Amino acid sequence: MKVLAINSSPRGGGQSKTEMMLAPLVKGMQDAGAEVETVNLRQKKINHCLGCFTCWTKTPGVCVQKDDMALELFPKWLAADIVVYATPLYHFTVNADMKAFIERTLPVLQPYLVREGDRTGHPLRSRPPATVMLSVAGFPEDTVFDALSYWTRFVFGKDGGLLAEIYRGAAEGLIHSGKRSAILAATEQAGREIILQKHVSPETMARIRQPLTTPETLASAGNIMWQSLIDDGTTMASASRQGGAPRPASVEMLAELLAFAFNPLKLGDKQGTLQFNFNGEKAGSCYLTMDSSGCVPHIGIASKADCTIDGPFEVWADIIQGKQDGGQALMDGKYRANGDITLMMVFGND
Ligand SMILES: Cc1cc2nc3c(=O)[nH]c(=O)nc-3n(C[C@H](O)[C@H](O)[C@H](O)COP(=O)(O)O)c2cc1C
Repeated sequence: MKVLAINSSPRGGGQSKTEMMLAPLVKGMQDAGAEVETVNLRQKKINHCLGCFTCWTKTPGVCVQKDDMALELFPKWLAADIVVYATPLYHFTVNADMKAFIERTLPVLQPYLVREGDRTGHPLRSRPPATVMLSVAGFPEDTVFDALSYWTRFVFGKDGGLLAEIYRGAAEGLIHSGKRSAILAATEQAGREIILQKHVSPETMARIRQPLTTPETLASAGNIMWQSLIDDGTTMASASRQGGAPRPASVEMLAELLAFAFNPLKLGDKQGTLQFNFNGEKAGSCYLTMDSSGCVPHIGIASKADCTIDGPFEVWADIIQGKQDGGQALMDGKYRANGDITLMMVFGND
């Protein structure tokens, strides 16, 4: 089974969430025995289709252009059993590089018009590869993929040729979300299922698409991140090279960021309430209620806490940003923790 995985994100350097999702999908496919080649379109020269129809007339099946698409990628596309189109969602559809690639597959069609049920189409010159569509988006709602999904099913859905559509919203949040490892593991499972069963099970799809948090918390965490980039006059790429989460500017923000980093796999089937009482520059209290279904941030003092942390706000802001290790800071006496301290170890993906 030959798979061609096409990644159209313009971002390199570990920045791309399309790449973050595509890598485990490819790994799962390889584990299931597929031979997979990944192509990054940002490294290729692909001109736009000229619309000359020479590939339908003078040189049937052969494009008049001599770029990476005609010379390298179209032959690979034709030879593949499955093609994964992995694209960031731009303006609610595939991005321009991916669209240019797809338009350049025109030589696979013959010019004649044929009626197929209530649709007019073109006969194929040869059978195209089966399709997997993978897309990531900034917004969290599933509906952001509706237009892409409609188009994908219309263009690739004939004769069982569309094996799977994998859509991950709130993808920028994957960096700091405690659910990242679970979502990437599910994506790897999807890769295995596509090769072995030719579809992705509803259970695996639900794990891939699980909400990172509520849309409201996502918006606040996202706004903290954007505001800190604006305040620091820096770019997303350089902030992400430094690795840490944005610095919380208030007790409320700190609670939201911790809730976002909550990893339910680390809590297991336990539940508990983690209370923070901050002194220092930003004095105040907040608490997190946690169980296997999620983590909810609250402001104030809980009626009953399983673990209580007392210390300077600045120390915990540093811990969230990865500037201090939480365990080391506790041992160094920079804050105090009383009760079940395992409740402090339920954040992040490590
Ligand atoms: C030009 C542009 C258009 C975008 N359009 C949308 C959009 O319509 N809906 C959405 O939810 N996100 C949109 N986004 C956000 C991207 O989908 C998101 O940042 C994604 O993680 C980018 O994928 P990448 O990291 O692989 O490049 C857009 C981003 C850019 C740069």
